[in-house]
Amino acid sequence: MTDRSLLILPGDGIGPEVMAEVRKIIDWFGTARGISFTVSEGLVGGVAYDAHGTPLTDETMEQAQNVDAVLLGAVGGPAYDNLDFSVKPERGLLRLRKEMDLYANLRPAQCFEALADFSSLKREIVSGLDIMILRELTSGVYFGEPRGIHREGNERVGINTQRYTESEIARAARSAFELARRRSNKVCSMEKANVMESGILWRDVVTEVHAAEYPDVELSHMYADNGAMQLVRAPKQFDVILTDNLFGDILSDCAAMLTGSLGMLPSASLGAPMANGRPKAMYEPVHGSAPDITGQGKANPIACILSFAMALRYSFDLGDEAKRLEAAVEGVLADGARTADLMGPEGGTPISTSEMGDAIVAKLAA
Ligand code: IPM
Ligand code: MG
Repeated sequence: MTDRSLLILPGDGIGPEVMAEVRKIIDWFGTARGISFTVSEGLVGGVAYDAHGTPLTDETMEQAQNVDAVLLGAVGGPAYDNLDFSVKPERGLLRLRKEMDLYANLRPAQCFEALADFSSLKREIVSGLDIMILRELTSGVYFGEPRGIHREGNERVGINTQRYTESEIARAARSAFELARRRSNKVCSMEKANVMESGILWRDVVTEVHAAEYPDVELSHMYADNGAMQLVRAPKQFDVILTDNLFGDILSDCAAMLTGSLGMLPSASLGAPMANGRPKAMYEPVHGSAPDITGQGKANPIACILSFAMALRYSFDLGDEAKRLEAAVEGVLADGARTADLMGPEGGTPISTSEMGDAIVAKLAA
Protein backbone atom coordinates (compact mmCIF):
# COMPACT_ATOMS: atom_id res chain seq x y z
CA MET A 1 0.00 0.00 0.00
CA THR A 2 1.12 3.48 -0.73
CA ASP A 3 -0.45 6.87 -0.29
CA ARG A 4 0.73 8.10 -3.68
CA SER A 5 -1.76 7.68 -6.50
CA LEU A 6 -1.36 8.22 -10.23
CA LEU A 7 -3.83 8.02 -13.10
CA ILE A 8 -2.10 7.37 -16.41
CA LEU A 9 -3.90 8.51 -19.55
CA PRO A 10 -1.62 7.60 -22.48
CA GLY A 11 -4.06 8.96 -25.09
CA ASP A 12 -3.36 8.98 -28.81
CA GLY A 13 -0.48 8.79 -31.28
CA ILE A 14 2.90 8.42 -29.62
CA GLY A 15 1.29 8.87 -26.17
CA PRO A 16 1.19 5.15 -25.36
CA GLU A 17 4.76 4.62 -26.61
CA VAL A 18 6.32 7.34 -24.48
CA MET A 19 4.15 6.44 -21.48
CA ALA A 20 5.43 2.84 -21.60
CA GLU A 21 8.88 4.26 -20.87
CA VAL A 22 7.55 6.29 -17.95
CA ARG A 23 6.14 3.04 -16.52
CA LYS A 24 9.71 1.66 -16.47
CA ILE A 25 10.86 4.71 -14.52
CA ILE A 26 7.95 4.42 -12.07
CA ASP A 27 8.79 0.76 -11.52
CA TRP A 28 12.43 1.62 -10.93
CA PHE A 29 11.55 4.14 -8.22
CA GLY A 30 9.38 1.50 -6.56
CA THR A 31 11.97 -1.27 -6.48
CA ALA A 32 15.22 0.69 -6.18
CA ARG A 33 14.17 3.66 -4.06
CA GLY A 34 11.18 2.28 -2.17
CA ILE A 35 9.03 5.08 -3.59
CA SER A 36 5.94 3.36 -4.89
CA PHE A 37 2.75 4.53 -6.49
CA THR A 38 -0.74 3.15 -6.88
CA VAL A 39 -1.19 3.38 -10.63
CA SER A 40 -4.44 3.21 -12.56
CA GLU A 41 -4.91 3.73 -16.28
CA GLY A 42 -7.68 5.17 -18.46
CA LEU A 43 -8.59 6.54 -21.86
CA VAL A 44 -8.56 10.10 -23.12
CA GLY A 45 -8.82 11.69 -26.56
CA GLY A 46 -9.45 9.78 -29.76
CA VAL A 47 -9.05 6.36 -28.15
CA ALA A 48 -11.75 7.28 -25.61
CA TYR A 49 -13.96 8.47 -28.45
CA ASP A 50 -13.46 5.17 -30.27
CA ALA A 51 -14.37 3.19 -27.18
CA HIS A 52 -17.11 5.37 -25.68
CA GLY A 53 -18.12 8.06 -28.19
CA THR A 54 -16.66 10.79 -25.99
CA PRO A 55 -13.05 12.02 -25.55
CA LEU A 56 -13.39 11.71 -21.76
CA THR A 57 -16.00 9.71 -19.87
CA ASP A 58 -17.51 10.96 -16.61
CA GLU A 59 -15.95 7.95 -14.88
CA THR A 60 -12.45 8.89 -16.02
CA MET A 61 -13.08 12.53 -15.07
CA GLU A 62 -14.11 11.34 -11.61
CA GLN A 63 -11.00 9.16 -11.31
CA ALA A 64 -8.82 12.14 -12.28
CA GLN A 65 -10.39 14.19 -9.48
CA ASN A 66 -9.50 11.51 -6.95
CA VAL A 67 -5.83 10.83 -7.58
CA ASP A 68 -2.77 12.83 -6.56
CA ALA A 69 -1.60 13.28 -10.13
CA VAL A 70 -2.69 12.57 -13.68
CA LEU A 71 0.01 11.69 -16.23
CA LEU A 72 -1.19 12.37 -19.76
CA GLY A 73 0.54 11.36 -23.00
CA ALA A 74 -1.00 13.18 -25.96
CA VAL A 75 -4.36 13.60 -27.68
CA GLY A 76 -5.50 13.96 -31.27
CA GLY A 77 -4.69 12.67 -34.72
CA PRO A 78 -5.79 12.89 -38.34
CA ALA A 79 -8.43 10.18 -37.86
CA TYR A 80 -10.35 12.56 -35.61
CA ASP A 81 -9.93 15.79 -37.57
CA ASN A 82 -13.44 15.74 -38.98
CA LEU A 83 -15.28 14.92 -35.76
CA ASP A 84 -17.81 17.36 -34.41
CA PHE A 85 -16.07 20.06 -32.34
CA SER A 86 -17.77 18.89 -29.13
CA VAL A 87 -16.18 15.42 -29.26
CA LYS A 88 -12.77 16.25 -30.68
CA PRO A 89 -9.89 14.64 -28.72
CA GLU A 90 -8.73 18.08 -27.51
CA ARG A 91 -12.04 18.55 -25.69
CA GLY A 92 -11.06 15.73 -23.33
CA LEU A 93 -7.86 17.51 -22.39
CA LEU A 94 -9.59 20.86 -21.97
CA ARG A 95 -12.26 19.28 -19.77
CA LEU A 96 -9.59 17.84 -17.47
CA ARG A 97 -7.89 21.23 -17.19
CA LYS A 98 -11.15 23.06 -16.57
CA GLU A 99 -12.89 20.69 -14.15
CA MET A 100 -9.75 20.10 -12.11
CA ASP A 101 -9.25 23.88 -12.20
CA LEU A 102 -5.58 23.55 -13.17
CA TYR A 103 -4.95 27.24 -13.56
CA ALA A 104 -1.16 27.26 -13.33
CA ASN A 105 0.61 25.63 -16.27
CA LEU A 106 4.37 25.40 -15.78
CA ARG A 107 6.36 24.98 -18.97
CA PRO A 108 10.10 25.00 -18.39
CA ALA A 109 12.39 25.46 -21.37
CA GLN A 110 15.86 24.32 -20.50
CA CYS A 111 18.69 23.78 -22.91
CA PHE A 112 20.66 20.62 -22.19
CA GLU A 113 24.35 21.31 -22.82
CA ALA A 114 24.69 18.19 -24.98
CA LEU A 115 21.93 19.50 -27.24
CA ALA A 116 22.87 23.17 -27.58
CA ASP A 117 23.86 22.61 -31.20
CA PHE A 118 20.43 21.19 -32.05
CA SER A 119 18.67 24.48 -31.56
CA SER A 120 17.71 26.44 -34.63
CA LEU A 121 19.42 29.36 -32.90
CA LYS A 122 23.16 29.78 -32.42
CA ARG A 123 24.71 27.86 -29.53
CA GLU A 124 25.72 31.01 -27.61
CA ILE A 125 22.13 32.28 -27.64
CA VAL A 126 20.67 29.11 -26.07
CA SER A 127 23.53 27.54 -24.13
CA GLY A 128 22.59 27.54 -20.45
CA LEU A 129 19.03 28.64 -21.17
CA ASP A 130 16.66 28.02 -18.27
CA ILE A 131 13.31 29.77 -18.42
CA MET A 132 9.90 28.93 -17.03
CA ILE A 133 6.65 29.94 -18.70
CA LEU A 134 3.70 30.23 -16.36
CA ARG A 135 0.66 29.98 -18.62
CA GLU A 136 -2.82 30.63 -17.20
CA LEU A 137 -4.71 27.49 -18.24
CA THR A 138 -8.38 27.61 -17.30
CA SER A 139 -9.72 30.86 -18.67
CA GLY A 140 -9.24 33.44 -21.41
CA VAL A 141 -10.25 32.87 -24.98
CA TYR A 142 -10.13 29.07 -24.59
CA PHE A 143 -13.22 29.12 -22.41
CA GLY A 144 -14.78 32.61 -22.68
CA GLU A 145 -18.44 33.08 -23.60
CA PRO A 146 -20.03 33.94 -25.96
CA ARG A 147 -18.44 31.63 -28.46
CA GLY A 148 -19.60 29.85 -31.58
CA ILE A 149 -20.29 30.21 -35.28
CA HIS A 150 -23.58 31.80 -36.28
CA ARG A 151 -25.17 33.42 -39.28
CA GLU A 152 -25.51 37.16 -39.79
CA GLY A 153 -27.41 37.91 -42.98
CA ASN A 154 -25.79 35.94 -45.71
CA GLU A 155 -22.50 35.15 -44.07
CA ARG A 156 -21.20 33.19 -41.07
CA VAL A 157 -19.50 34.83 -38.10
CA GLY A 158 -17.07 33.08 -35.74
CA ILE A 159 -16.85 34.36 -32.17
CA ASN A 160 -14.58 33.69 -29.20
CA THR A 161 -14.27 35.82 -26.12
CA GLN A 162 -11.16 36.81 -24.21
CA ARG A 163 -12.38 37.16 -20.62
CA TYR A 164 -10.38 37.36 -17.41
CA THR A 165 -11.53 38.13 -13.89
CA GLU A 166 -9.24 39.84 -11.39
CA SER A 167 -9.05 36.74 -9.24
CA GLU A 168 -8.07 34.56 -12.20
CA ILE A 169 -5.23 36.91 -13.06
CA ALA A 170 -4.17 37.29 -9.42
CA ARG A 171 -3.84 33.56 -8.72
CA ALA A 172 -1.78 32.98 -11.87
CA ALA A 173 0.41 35.94 -10.92
CA ARG A 174 0.97 34.54 -7.42
CA SER A 175 2.10 31.22 -8.92
CA ALA A 176 4.58 33.05 -11.13
CA PHE A 177 5.99 35.12 -8.26
CA GLU A 178 6.29 32.04 -6.03
CA LEU A 179 8.20 30.22 -8.76
CA ALA A 180 10.46 33.21 -9.34
CA ARG A 181 11.43 33.31 -5.67
CA ARG A 182 12.79 29.77 -6.02
CA ARG A 183 14.64 30.67 -9.24
CA SER A 184 16.30 33.94 -10.30
CA ASN A 185 13.58 36.13 -8.78
CA LYS A 186 12.42 37.79 -12.02
CA VAL A 187 8.96 37.80 -13.64
CA CYS A 188 8.15 39.25 -17.05
CA SER A 189 4.41 39.50 -17.63
CA MET A 190 3.20 39.45 -21.25
CA GLU A 191 -0.12 40.68 -22.67
CA LYS A 192 -1.39 43.09 -25.31
CA ALA A 193 -2.41 46.02 -23.11
CA ASN A 194 -1.93 48.26 -26.14
CA VAL A 195 -4.96 46.79 -27.91
CA MET A 196 -6.95 44.70 -25.42
CA GLU A 197 -8.88 45.79 -22.32
CA SER A 198 -8.30 42.35 -20.83
CA GLY A 199 -4.60 43.10 -21.29
CA ILE A 200 -4.93 46.40 -19.42
CA LEU A 201 -6.63 44.60 -16.53
CA TRP A 202 -3.99 41.86 -16.64
CA ARG A 203 -1.18 44.42 -16.31
CA ASP A 204 -2.99 46.30 -13.51
CA VAL A 205 -3.69 43.20 -11.44
CA VAL A 206 -0.19 41.78 -11.84
CA THR A 207 1.21 45.14 -10.76
CA GLU A 208 -1.10 45.25 -7.71
CA VAL A 209 -0.33 41.70 -6.58
CA HIS A 210 3.35 42.44 -6.99
CA ALA A 211 3.26 45.64 -4.93
CA ALA A 212 1.15 44.13 -2.16
CA GLU A 213 2.70 40.69 -1.82
CA TYR A 214 5.93 40.25 -3.80
CA PRO A 215 7.85 43.56 -3.86
CA ASP A 216 11.11 41.58 -3.52
CA VAL A 217 10.63 40.01 -6.96
CA GLU A 218 11.78 41.95 -10.03
CA LEU A 219 8.76 42.55 -12.28
CA SER A 220 8.66 43.78 -15.88
CA HIS A 221 5.91 43.93 -18.51
CA MET A 222 6.12 43.30 -22.23
CA TYR A 223 3.65 43.21 -25.10
CA ALA A 224 3.32 39.60 -26.15
CA ASP A 225 4.40 40.21 -29.75
CA ASN A 226 7.59 41.84 -28.54
CA GLY A 227 7.94 38.92 -26.12
CA ALA A 228 7.90 36.47 -29.04
CA MET A 229 10.58 38.52 -30.76
CA GLN A 230 12.72 38.73 -27.60
CA LEU A 231 12.40 34.97 -27.08
CA VAL A 232 14.22 34.29 -30.33
CA ARG A 233 16.53 37.31 -30.06
CA ALA A 234 17.85 36.97 -26.51
CA PRO A 235 15.96 34.30 -24.56
CA LYS A 236 18.36 34.28 -21.61
CA GLN A 237 17.07 37.69 -20.48
CA PHE A 238 14.02 35.86 -19.04
CA ASP A 239 13.52 33.89 -15.84
CA VAL A 240 9.76 33.41 -15.35
CA ILE A 241 7.35 34.54 -18.09
CA LEU A 242 3.77 35.03 -16.89
CA THR A 243 1.10 35.08 -19.57
CA ASP A 244 -2.48 34.16 -20.45
CA ASN A 245 -3.86 30.99 -21.97
CA LEU A 246 -3.60 31.77 -25.68
CA PHE A 247 -0.36 33.78 -25.62
CA GLY A 248 1.06 31.06 -23.37
CA ASP A 249 0.14 28.38 -25.87
CA ILE A 250 2.05 30.17 -28.61
CA LEU A 251 4.99 31.49 -26.61
CA SER A 252 5.63 28.10 -25.01
CA ASP A 253 5.93 26.36 -28.37
CA CYS A 254 8.35 29.06 -29.40
CA ALA A 255 10.37 28.69 -26.19
CA ALA A 256 10.34 24.92 -26.48
CA MET A 257 11.91 24.97 -29.91
CA LEU A 258 14.80 27.07 -28.60
CA THR A 259 15.98 23.97 -26.78
CA GLY A 260 16.39 21.91 -29.92
CA SER A 261 13.47 19.52 -29.88
CA LEU A 262 9.86 19.54 -28.77
CA GLY A 263 10.57 15.99 -27.65
CA MET A 264 12.38 17.30 -24.57
CA LEU A 265 9.85 19.57 -22.90
CA PRO A 266 7.70 18.58 -19.91
CA SER A 267 4.87 20.48 -18.27
CA ALA A 268 2.92 20.59 -15.03
CA SER A 269 -0.60 21.91 -14.62
CA LEU A 270 -1.43 22.70 -11.02
CA GLY A 271 -4.54 23.76 -9.14
CA ALA A 272 -5.56 24.36 -5.55
CA PRO A 273 -4.39 22.07 -2.72
CA MET A 274 -6.55 19.00 -2.04
CA ALA A 275 -7.49 17.71 1.41
CA ASN A 276 -4.15 15.85 1.67
CA GLY A 277 -2.23 19.06 0.95
CA ARG A 278 -1.13 18.00 -2.52
CA PRO A 279 -2.23 20.25 -5.39
CA LYS A 280 -4.64 19.08 -8.04
CA ALA A 281 -2.21 18.16 -10.77
CA MET A 282 -1.73 16.88 -14.28
CA TYR A 283 1.61 16.33 -16.01
CA GLU A 284 2.08 16.08 -19.76
CA PRO A 285 4.77 16.45 -22.39
CA VAL A 286 4.44 19.63 -24.48
CA HIS A 287 4.77 17.70 -27.75
CA GLY A 288 1.58 16.47 -29.34
CA SER A 289 0.54 13.07 -30.63
CA ALA A 290 2.99 13.16 -33.59
CA PRO A 291 0.91 11.02 -35.98
CA ASP A 292 3.72 11.08 -38.57
CA ILE A 293 5.95 8.87 -36.39
CA THR A 294 3.35 6.95 -34.40
CA GLY A 295 4.01 3.24 -33.93
CA GLN A 296 7.54 3.35 -35.34
CA GLY A 297 9.52 3.39 -32.11
CA LYS A 298 10.96 6.77 -33.07
CA ALA A 299 9.35 8.97 -30.44
CA ASN A 300 11.52 10.64 -27.82
CA PRO A 301 10.22 9.64 -24.36
CA ILE A 302 12.24 12.30 -22.53
CA ALA A 303 9.51 14.99 -22.38
CA CYS A 304 7.15 12.49 -20.79
CA ILE A 305 9.82 11.18 -18.41
CA LEU A 306 10.72 14.74 -17.37
CA SER A 307 7.00 15.37 -16.80
CA PHE A 308 7.09 12.54 -14.28
CA ALA A 309 10.10 14.26 -12.67
CA MET A 310 7.92 17.35 -12.31
CA ALA A 311 5.28 15.16 -10.62
CA LEU A 312 7.90 13.96 -8.13
CA ARG A 313 8.77 17.58 -7.36
CA TYR A 314 5.42 19.35 -7.36
CA SER A 315 2.96 16.64 -6.27
CA PHE A 316 5.04 14.49 -3.97
CA ASP A 317 7.58 16.93 -2.59
CA LEU A 318 10.40 14.65 -3.78
CA GLY A 319 12.64 17.32 -5.29
CA ASP A 320 15.82 15.31 -4.72
CA GLU A 321 14.35 12.32 -6.56
CA ALA A 322 13.26 14.64 -9.39
CA LYS A 323 16.85 15.87 -9.62
CA ARG A 324 18.08 12.28 -9.67
CA LEU A 325 15.87 11.55 -12.67
CA GLU A 326 16.78 14.80 -14.44
CA ALA A 327 20.47 14.05 -13.92
CA ALA A 328 19.99 10.58 -15.44
CA VAL A 329 18.40 12.17 -18.53
CA GLU A 330 21.23 14.67 -18.77
CA GLY A 331 23.69 11.79 -18.36
CA VAL A 332 22.38 9.67 -21.22
CA LEU A 333 22.35 12.72 -23.48
CA ALA A 334 25.94 13.49 -22.54
CA ASP A 335 26.78 9.87 -23.38
CA GLY A 336 25.44 10.53 -26.87
CA ALA A 337 22.12 8.66 -26.73
CA ARG A 338 19.86 10.20 -29.37
CA THR A 339 16.38 9.44 -30.60
CA ALA A 340 15.55 10.30 -34.22
CA ASP A 341 14.38 13.85 -33.38
CA LEU A 342 17.86 14.58 -32.00
CA MET A 343 19.86 13.68 -35.08
CA GLY A 344 22.10 16.58 -36.06
CA PRO A 345 23.26 17.38 -39.56
CA GLU A 346 26.21 14.99 -39.07
CA GLY A 347 23.75 12.11 -38.75
CA GLY A 348 24.40 9.02 -36.66
CA THR A 349 22.29 6.06 -35.63
CA PRO A 350 19.21 6.93 -33.60
CA ILE A 351 18.08 4.69 -30.78
CA SER A 352 14.45 3.67 -30.34
CA THR A 353 11.92 4.95 -27.84
CA SER A 354 12.35 1.90 -25.63
CA GLU A 355 16.14 1.94 -25.90
CA MET A 356 16.09 5.52 -24.63
CA GLY A 357 13.86 4.48 -21.72
CA ASP A 358 16.19 1.57 -20.93
CA ALA A 359 19.25 3.83 -21.09
CA ILE A 360 17.69 6.22 -18.57
CA VAL A 361 16.80 3.37 -16.22
CA ALA A 362 20.36 2.04 -16.52
CA LYS A 363 21.74 5.49 -15.76
CA LEU A 364 19.49 5.79 -12.70
CA ALA A 365 20.80 2.47 -11.47
CA ALA A 366 24.46 3.30 -12.18
C1 IPM B 1 -1.03 22.63 -25.60
C2 IPM B 1 -1.83 22.18 -26.79
C3 IPM B 1 -3.32 22.27 -26.45
C4 IPM B 1 -3.65 23.72 -26.22
C5 IPM B 1 -4.25 21.63 -27.48
C6 IPM B 1 -3.92 20.19 -27.75
C7 IPM B 1 -5.70 21.77 -27.06
O1 IPM B 1 -1.49 22.91 -27.91
O2 IPM B 1 -1.18 22.03 -24.52
O3 IPM B 1 -0.25 23.57 -25.75
O4 IPM B 1 -3.94 24.47 -27.16
O5 IPM B 1 -3.62 24.14 -25.05
MG1 MG C 1 0.14 24.25 -27.61
